[in-house]
Amino acid sequence: MELQRVEMLSSSVLASLRDHVAVIDKNGQIIAVNEAWRRFAAENGDPEEASVSLGANYLEVCRQAVRGEDLTAGAALHGIESVLNGLRAEFSMEYECSSPSEERWFVMNVLPLRSVGGGAVISHINVTQRKRAERDLQQLREQLSRVTRIATMGELAAALAHELNQPLTGILSNAQAAQRILSHPNPDFEELREILSDIIKDDERASQVILRLRSLFKKEDFQFTRLNVNDVITEIVPMIRSHALLKGVVLVTELDPAILPVMGDRIQLQQVILNLALNGFEAMEHSEVKKLCVRTIQDAEESVRVYVKDSGMGIDEKIKEEIFKPFFTTKKEGIGIGLAVSHSIIGLHRGRIWVENNPDQGSTVSFTLPVARKTST
Ligand SMILES: Nc1ncnc2c1ncn2[C@@H]1O[C@H](COP(=O)(O)OP(=O)(O)O)[C@@H](O)[C@H]1O
Ligand SMILES: [Mg+2]
Repeated sequence: MELQRVEMLSSSVLASLRDHVAVIDKNGQIIAVNEAWRRFAAENGDPEEASVSLGANYLEVCRQAVRGEDLTAGAALHGIESVLNGLRAEFSMEYECSSPSEERWFVMNVLPLRSVGGGAVISHINVTQRKRAERDLQQLREQLSRVTRIATMGELAAALAHELNQPLTGILSNAQAAQRILSHPNPDFEELREILSDIIKDDERASQVILRLRSLFKKEDFQFTRLNVNDVITEIVPMIRSHALLKGVVLVTELDPAILPVMGDRIQLQQVILNLALNGFEAMEHSEVKKLCVRTIQDAEESVRVYVKDSGMGIDEKIKEEIFKPFFTTKKEGIGIGLAVSHSIIGLHRGRIWVENNPDQGSTVSFTLPVARKTST
């Protein structure tokens, strides 16, 4: 009577579980299996539920799957056997088991059955949702960094158009000059040669702009190399300068030639500088004096420091810590990710980023990057 009650209790506990649970004896024979697993087997190409019926041997089911070149079954078989033999206190593995119509991920757990005869409890838990959430998060992180870059480029579109327009205008006027020369009875070939080489130079300039743009749009993975921060800045100065011109801002760059190399990702660092510069421009929209200064300096404490100083409205002390948080913005059309992304990029470089209000007007955002060790390449 007592035994019957225990059996009833355990079978109703099994039946109540949504995870797939089976109990096997020490030889792998199934001595109990719950409804959820049976239903799953019936719905997934085993209408007779033969693989999970009472008395079937689960180890044999796994072995058959291994013969069908199912790698997951091999790992499962090994795990179950090691628990049955007492070689392991438990076994757990995550595996994909997608059907043609849906993606599915499971975790299989195997625990020893502490009864006289031995055996094990096997459960399969559906973790598809967690798996999907993890993957989505990872993708979101990568995309956020990329979207920020694209948003930056969007804000700089007019400056880029200006940068491209200069060589194009040069090419046009040179081509027109060449046409005029060619309409002469005795064209001056030397002059034509010069004109063509100017055209080539302008074309190369335009290509450079496009190449730089492409790399800012495309790259996703971090690539740390030894680099000089001055070179990193110099590469994007033309873009910032065009923007400054359009916004009526004086751009000053003071690059300390004595700075030491750092280990860093060129594109990511350029993104940080562009973010800071754009914030500076936006802060100066209503300022009378509009001056943006980008400076580098070699710090005594083994790091390179970069400053982006503006003459804008400054930053309220109360929000000085908030501005680096994602989606914090005080702008009507702001997104609030520029500084958050910059903060995480500088963090990955083991540097620091902070903001200070200038004594006179505006604010300065600075960051440091540790100097590369001599041994690193
Ligand atoms: N140079 C600056 N001067 C004044 N305020 C700034 C400056 N840089 C950033 N901020 C403040 O920090 C906030 C967050 O900046 P950011 O992360 O780049 O997002 P967004 O520019 O989209 O608002 C801004 O909305 C602004 O309030
Ligand atoms: Mg911004």
